Amino acid sequence: MVGYENINITETDNGSIANNLGDAISTQRHIVASARPFHINKSHQINGQYMKSGIYADAFFYDLSAIFPKGEAFMIKTMAWWRDKMPADQLPDIANFIEQEAGHSREHIAMNKLIQNAGFNLSNSDKNVESVVKRAAALSPRGRLLAVVCLEHMTAIMAAEMIKNPQHVENFSAEFRDFWLWHAVEEVDHKSVVFDAWRYSVRDKSETWQYLTRCSMMLLISISFVINRTRGQLSLLKQHDIGKIKGFFGMMRYGLRKGGLARNILPHWKLFFHRGFHPSQINDRHLLEKGEKLIAASLQTKSFNKAKPKNRAKKPVKIFAAKAA
Ligand SMILES: [Fe+2]
Ligand SMILES: [Fe+2]
Repeated sequence: MVGYENINITETDNGSIANNLGDAISTQRHIVASARPFHINKSHQINGQYMKSGIYADAFFYDLSAIFPKGEAFMIKTMAWWRDKMPADQLPDIANFIEQEAGHSREHIAMNKLIQNAGFNLSNSDKNVESVVKRAAALSPRGRLLAVVCLEHMTAIMAAEMIKNPQHVENFSAEFRDFWLWHAVEEVDHKSVVFDAWRYSVRDKSETWQYLTRCSMMLLISISFVINRTRGQLSLLKQHDIGKIKGFFGMMRYGLRKGGLARNILPHWKLFFHRGFHPSQINDRHLLEKGEKLIAASLQTKSFNKAKPKNRAKKPVKIFAAKAA
């Protein structure tokens, strides 16, 4: 039987994945930081119709933003249900997970208003995620927790990719780019919390049962995600006179081209299907510091730019008062 302690997955300098079965992993536990304060500027306007990367990048990120408020609310509710059934040593991380996700949900609501102001109607994506969440809510408590495990893995690998290759978001305005990087940092930070909770919730089940159930749910969630997010993006593209066929191939090109976000995360997505997988085995803690530094540098530039006009904001946005452990 393969245990969770004897598989170590590391990323090499050239970006390839090394799966060192049999190696011992670090026993040092990562402690999730408390939520990092971030508030998007609600009067921010998106300049121009599209970001420089093009309409397909817009469609991808705007559709994603549209689904976060309800998606994250589902994650919070699920975790909150389990909270008082978890062992004491997991409680601080669970509290920070909930706090971080609540902040993301709050800021995505604000961001979605800015996106809608720029001429993208997000109602189809919103309705779509509402019906998906409704179906997921009908699962058993363990099933809901496992669905969140899978969503968290997908979110964490996208987040890590955004920080590793910030060109995915660098053509957004600085406001939007910082926003995505902030969300990404916290997703990498808390990526193991729900997995650990689920492992505890199914401790009475065999490793084989856990493995098969986990893989089945990931397949289901991934297929549903691809279908629904394709629909969501096509709806946004249609609003800008791009039909289904052209839109579909454009999306594929955008995501799966060399260096594309979807293409780059595939190897990490597959790691979930290792029998002994645990999120902490993907060593990407260094990305927390990188992401925080990128945002801090951007905020400094923004404060410098803001210093010129007389009616500048009285208080610059404070961020990262709390430092990841
Ligand atoms: Fe989040
Ligand atoms: Fe998350």
